[in-house]
Amino acid sequence: MILVTGGAGFIGANFILDWLRENDEPVLNLDKLTYAGNRENLAELSGDPRYAFVQGDIGDKSLVGELLSRHRPRAVINFAAESHVDRSIHGPGEFIQTNIVGTFNLLENVRAYYAAMSEAEKAKFRFLHVSTDEVYGSLKAEDPAFSETNRFEPNSPYSASKAASDHLVRAYHHTYGLPVLTTNCSNNYGPYQFPEKLIPLMIVNALAGKPLPVYGDGQQIRDWLYVGDHCSAIRTVLAGGQIGETYNVGGWNEKPNLDIVHAICGLLDELRPHADGRSYREQITYVADRPGHDRRYAIDASKIERELGWRPAETFATGIRKTVHWYLDNAAWINNVQTGAYREWVEKNYSGRDA
Ligand code: NAD
Ligand code: TYD
Repeated sequence: MILVTGGAGFIGANFILDWLRENDEPVLNLDKLTYAGNRENLAELSGDPRYAFVQGDIGDKSLVGELLSRHRPRAVINFAAESHVDRSIHGPGEFIQTNIVGTFNLLENVRAYYAAMSEAEKAKFRFLHVSTDEVYGSLKAEDPAFSETNRFEPNSPYSASKAASDHLVRAYHHTYGLPVLTTNCSNNYGPYQFPEKLIPLMIVNALAGKPLPVYGDGQQIRDWLYVGDHCSAIRTVLAGGQIGETYNVGGWNEKPNLDIVHAICGLLDELRPHADGRSYREQITYVADRPGHDRRYAIDASKIERELGWRPAETFATGIRKTVHWYLDNAAWINNVQTGAYREWVEKNYSGRDA
């Protein structure tokens, strides 16, 4: 079996659903259920004997130690993290705690678990750490895309905390021989993404008739990857990645934020037109920029393609259409995640930004 941490969040939930569609190897999901964790994301697995859930913290040493010795996973895949840049600006403490201290405690547990394995078990075991392209910092328009050898230049508390966790994972390989793999992926989008991130926020606000808040000039560039492609990349690296290596994962799809928002508006105009014929584009509003906003991320994903034969299956056009359909079809899910705490977050992040 495999142990997945943070599997009730956006990417982890997609990963578990895809994993159990692809094969029957059981999954244990350890998730703290922060605001971003939602058991409804995995509702279709209730009663499935291949899936088990434990609510808990990756930093809880006795709980994680007990889970490892009881379930004896042949791999640990670490998705658990605080993941939103804007929240890390308002309150970096949780990012340090989970992303750095939590990963450290998890690594300590896995190190002890690994040390007590037989040679045969050791040969099969992997610790896969899921990370981000944001550790590499920000690119200028003319710079080449990030490769695995770029230096780390994180600029937000979020990316700095992820960079620290990547360093710890690397050190546990070099110092203790832990069989680690790291993936550094670009911006994901798709079903079950919490509506604090750009794409689901824009869809949810558009449908509610609210402003679509574009930070600064909207010309910041991200590389966008459909979440199902990220999940297939993680499965590929887990199966065939070289121990101790890092793999960049991306969609070969750089776009300015404003283009993303226009693409969403165009799809909604087609699929859910306003009764009065107005375009959703009329809801676009420019708001004050994010402090320290990274201008451009771009991923060179040629290593994972060359060495492991992975390439994304979706284009942005196919992936964003699927995503908009999913949000249109899942109004109850949208409604359930817009709790009081969500509304407080929206108030905190957007009220001070003059249009
Ligand atoms: P998310 O915020 O949607 O989900 C994170 C999950 O981790 C939640 O279910 C939360 O409850 C859980 N969690 C948080 N702290 C925990 C703790 N201390 N112990 C156990 N569980 C805890 O995040 P996501 O977008 O699904 O991202 C998953 C991982 O992928 C993160 O490590 C993130 O850095 C990385 N990543 C995300 C993106 C992206 O575009 N979303 C891109 C590249 C990499
Ligand atoms: P986000 O989805 O938060 O991901 P990240 O900051 O990790 O790349 O943001 C993606 C881009 O969209 C980023 O350049 C910030 C911008 N953005 C907005 O313009 N408006 C918004 O309301 C949000 C949430 C993000």
